[in-house]
Amino acid sequence: MEDSVPQILLRRAMVRDAERLEQFFRGFAEVSFCEWQDARFLRGVLLQETTTAYMAFDATGDVVGAVIGGMLGTRGTINHLAVSSRHRTQGLGQRLVEAASADMKRVGVLRMFLFVDDTNLAGKRFWAAQGFCEPRGEITFERDL
Ligand SMILES: CC(C)(COP(=O)(O)OP(=O)(O)OC[C@H]1O[C@@H](n2cnc3c(N)ncnc32)[C@H](O)[C@@H]1OP(=O)(O)O)[C@@H](O)C(=O)NCCC(=O)NCCS
Repeated sequence: MEDSVPQILLRRAMVRDAERLEQFFRGFAEVSFCEWQDARFLRGVLLQETTTAYMAFDATGDVVGAVIGGMLGTRGTINHLAVSSRHRTQGLGQRLVEAASADMKRVGVLRMFLFVDDTNLAGKRFWAAQGFCEPRGEITFERDL
């Protein structure tokens, strides 16, 4: 899928984009990108059929937005999303999420979920505006392997 608005090109992220994707996501404090999520790791993720990932580029070819997520049966997760500060509030985040959501819908995903830091007010408002709601009474359990 290729989609363009004035000056911004949206396209699927490919294996060869792994390094740029890593660099881009590392530029945002709100994106919890772990130490081990390097380009090699991302290459493996981008090769998987269950991954959905898109990047947005400005007219000079700079990365200005990206999303990456995954699908398992009827559930889909958005793992990371970011838009560069100078391109925010122009609908780009929404377009990236819609592109990933369309991939998920196509393979039968019925519910999407994601994690957002409780202090990330802009992030929480963004997700609410995309129709995501905050389930009450749920907490996250996690363990490093
Ligand atoms: C969250 C983020 C991706 C939003 O990207 P964006 O391109 O600015 O979002 P959009 O322009 O598509 O916004 C869509 C809607 O979300 C809401 N929204 C977006 N940013 C908002 C903000 N800062 N405050 C309040 N509402 C906001 C609005 O309702 C907006 O619609 P409107 O412009 O018609 O009012 C961007 O702020 C970002 O990269 N933040 C840092 C990284 C991050 O927090 N990622 C998410 C962590 S899970």
